[in-house]
Amino acid sequence: MRIFVTGATGFVGSAVVRELIDAGHQVKGLARSDKAVAALIAAGADVHRGSLDDLDTLRSGASAADGVIHLAFKHDFSDFAAAAEADILAIDAMGSVLEGTGKPLVVTSGTLMLAPGRLGTEDDASIQLRRGAPRRRRSR
Ligand SMILES: NC(=O)c1ccc[n+]([C@@H]2O[C@H](COP(=O)([O-])OP(=O)(O)OC[C@H]3O[C@@H](n4cnc5c(N)ncnc54)[C@H](OP(=O)(O)O)[C@@H]3O)[C@@H](O)[C@H]2O)c1
Repeated sequence: MRIFVTGATGFVGSAVVRELIDAGHQVKGLARSDKAVAALIAAGADVHRGSLDDLDTLRSGASAADGVIHLAFKHDFSDFAAAAEADILAIDAMGSVLEGTGKPLVVTSGTLMLAPGRLGTEDDASIQLRRGAPRRRRSR
């Protein structure tokens, strides 16, 4: 499969890219700097130049792929709300071009809210999903 990976140069992404390429998939990684470009090429991936803030770039990367793994995140804890907002917009942008195609969109999350007070398993859904909280829609 052709997989578009955001955050492909990160802690999680670099391991995911290695696994995907070893399994025979074709990876195109989002890169916002020359350093990221070099890292992706060294890893055997193709490059999709752009940043999380460029939603058109995210849409074009997603629409050209057979699936998306979204691992980029602005780990700026001085403005976490803005980082989370950028994450929502990025997921909405990529989701909008995948919607109805049957192509997968994989995102990450933390496990703190999964099963408070007990052992969490793969059968658990997040508290938000269990409560049926409406998903926020964003203008694009
Ligand atoms: N690591 C964990 O234990 C853990 C646990 C739970 C959830 N998660 C989630 O898993 C995801 C990946 O985490 P990680 O630990 O791999 O993070 P990381 O090592 O900090 O990597 C972040 C990635 O995002 C990219 N990025 C950041 N800002 C960007 C921007 N403005 N435009 C484009 N790319 C940008 C970085 O690219 P550059 O190379 O250019 O900096 C890097 O590839 C995150 O959503 C994180 O919250 C991680």
